[in-house]
Amino acid sequence: MLDQFLWGGSIAAHQCEGGWQEGGKGPAIMDFVTKGSKETARTITSEQLPELSYPSHQGIDFFHRYQEDIALFKEMGFTALRLSVDWSRIYPNGDDEQPNQEGLDFYEAVIDALLENNIEPIVTLYHFELPIHLVHQYGSWANRRVIDFYLRYCETVMKAWNGKVRYWVTFNEMNHIDPENEHSDIFTYMIAGLKYSELKNPKQQLAEIGYNMTLASVKAVRLAHRINANNIVGCVFGLNPIYPYNCDPDNVLQAFLENDRDYYQIDAVCQGAFPKYKLAEFKKIGLEIQVTEEDNEDFKHGTLDFIGLNYYFSSIAEPKNSDISKEASLFGGIQNPYLEQSKWGWAIDAKGIRYVMNYLYRRYGLPIMITENGLGSPDVIEEDGIHDSYRMTYLQKHIEQVRLAIEEDYVECIGYLTWGPIDLVSASTGEMSKRYGFIYVDLDDEGNGTLQRRKKDSFYWYKQVIASNGKNLAID
Ligand code: BG6
Repeated sequence: MLDQFLWGGSIAAHQCEGGWQEGGKGPAIMDFVTKGSKETARTITSEQLPELSYPSHQGIDFFHRYQEDIALFKEMGFTALRLSVDWSRIYPNGDDEQPNQEGLDFYEAVIDALLENNIEPIVTLYHFELPIHLVHQYGSWANRRVIDFYLRYCETVMKAWNGKVRYWVTFNEMNHIDPENEHSDIFTYMIAGLKYSELKNPKQQLAEIGYNMTLASVKAVRLAHRINANNIVGCVFGLNPIYPYNCDPDNVLQAFLENDRDYYQIDAVCQGAFPKYKLAEFKKIGLEIQVTEEDNEDFKHGTLDFIGLNYYFSSIAEPKNSDISKEASLFGGIQNPYLEQSKWGWAIDAKGIRYVMNYLYRRYGLPIMITENGLGSPDVIEEDGIHDSYRMTYLQKHIEQVRLAIEEDYVECIGYLTWGPIDLVSASTGEMSKRYGFIYVDLDDEGNGTLQRRKKDSFYWYKQVIASNGKNLAID
């Protein structure tokens, strides 16, 4: 690993801050999503229903406890923390003329605390945090005006923390908006505040949203570079390799095509043009996207400085016209017989991270930052501590593959950040029991607990990994 390799973790505002009505924050899309479970999807409500529980309202109370949490990150030796800014703390309605100073002050205090501890802040500008007003009033990202509001917000924070924050991330996982796929409500909602089942013309709307977010990203990159030429700007994609079911060429092609759908936006933000093949595909199915000359200029000049990779699992493309596809859809995906699965059914595939890193680097030649990786698992508190060997084993195997990608395959990788270095609310299920952290938070799925922080065994292990710059991965 490089000497200045960034080691640390990633968190997102709506999953950890809480304080949803404090500091002048406005309501954002995830404030209307209830707790779900492994079996039951989270419910999206149109108003706040007092009898229901909304995990983002309390989070893990990072809003009040960030100093204690940052001290623990420091103790582990973090050199970077990726955190998101909740747009609705800065512009409570999204289209306000003036920013909310309290929101700016809150994040500046967090950034200062990180810098005092020699932890590089990596700021995600959009991690499922959209002011709800922009959905109700403008129809979310399908409306180009939302791009302007997003850029106003970006400009405000980039100027406010100019020189303090060097690393910016324009979007988290916008690639999950895929016009070719049917989606569950929660996925389109997390990214754009819209339920898939309520979209009048889903393909058209998702294509517009996908295009507009991509355009917003290149514009934000240009803005960041204009404000400070030393800004280093990335965009984060959630990628899992999709393997063919077997070597039947039909299945191999199917897997390739499914994989490929994740890449048109990456092509657009890395290659200097929105891909013609995608516009042609859109046209073929009757979708019209308005591309202006100005857009083309933005694509040309707004390419990324690095690609952020969120990696958790691999999956298998469902073979066409087979009983297997029916069986698989009952269980939410085909199981790979060569891999074990997490308790939430995610296939544990360490080699998959090396595969995607290679694929990305060979296709784009840009530095890669691993922006999320980790195992969601329940933990058991025993009398003498929390012995999370399963988490250490998962991370050990993945870091080893990252090392191989760097040293054997010559992939340029600038950092490795685990997801949820402190337990926080799960994005997909709203549970606390799906824990990723090195630091345990005393809070259960019903929102009960003292919120007290405790170090797990993995806390000491990750500290040793960082201290050895990734060389000592041994688990005692
Ligand atoms: C990533 C998201 O896709 O997956 C995070 O960026 C999320 O916000 C993480 O928390 C893990 O997913 P989950 O559903 O286990 O929280």
